[in-house]
Amino acid sequence: MSSSRLEFLGQLAGGLAHEIKNPLSTIKLTLQLLEEDFQKEESPFAARAKHKIEVLLREVNHLDDIVQEFLTFARGHDLKLTRTNLREMVVELFEFLGDDAHARGIRLHFDYEGKLDNLLLDATLIRQALMNLVRNAFEAVVDKDGGEVIVRAKVKGDLLGIDVIDTGCGIAPSNYDRMFRPYFTTKKKGTGMGLPMVRRIVEEHGGQITFESEEGQGTRFLILLPVDPEKRGSLKSMVPSEGKPDHPVGRGLQQ
Ligand SMILES: Nc1ncnc2c1ncn2[C@@H]1O[C@H](COP(=O)(O)OP(=O)(O)OP(=O)(O)O)[C@@H](O)[C@H]1O
Ligand SMILES: [Mg+2]
Repeated sequence: MSSSRLEFLGQLAGGLAHEIKNPLSTIKLTLQLLEEDFQKEESPFAARAKHKIEVLLREVNHLDDIVQEFLTFARGHDLKLTRTNLREMVVELFEFLGDDAHARGIRLHFDYEGKLDNLLLDATLIRQALMNLVRNAFEAVVDKDGGEVIVRAKVKGDLLGIDVIDTGCGIAPSNYDRMFRPYFTTKKKGTGMGLPMVRRIVEEHGGQITFESEEGQGTRFLILLPVDPEKRGSLKSMVPSEGKPDHPVGRGLQQ
């Protein structure tokens, strides 16, 4: 398909998603009002109605998430680069997820090395990307009744490496090609937009993302970013051309 036709289809789909969003928020608001009305009633009829409203609200929220993610994906981001303390960001993310991790039997680790306190990044987007990877890691580990989720960050020379590692269910090799494809999901409630969004954010920062995985053992996502935004168009020239890039965090799931 020609790129102008693709662009046209993208715009069309973006317009459609936008038009769906408005009635969807009306439906959501009306359902919430209805839910409030039924909160005051205590009959079996009201209990059944409340349950049905809950189901509807859950589905509407799910649709809303899908449309929102599609819109953000279709539009892309204008990066707002600010001096960011990546170490603090991960610590705060882990604090936020701590209770949930504890409840699900997940141990969290954060290792870091190098100067992480003054990096030019879009903090909101990088946080969103990390959150998506860590959420995936949680979900992979929960499948196995607990385990470890490790974030490693390291600045070495001109490169920043961030790894998100889990000891979860791993990825079937037959799915490798589809991992970053929009809407690819193996989860009942997944949208399949998490990883495409992560990749988009990493690439908008001039970086790249790869993964390695072993079924039943775990998975490791590797992000590589140039530290200097001026060099963000030239990541390929900064890493060895043959084989995989010399990732600052090192290689191998167990490192
Ligand atoms: N750490 C991981 N371990 C094992 N499988 C993973 C991991 N991360 C992603 N996957 C696989 O890749 C698929 C796509 O991930 P992605 O984050 O894009 O969507 P999702 O997690 O299914 O849905 P959503 O992010 O919307 O909740 C997942 O359904 C899962 O099969
Ligand atoms: Mg996900």
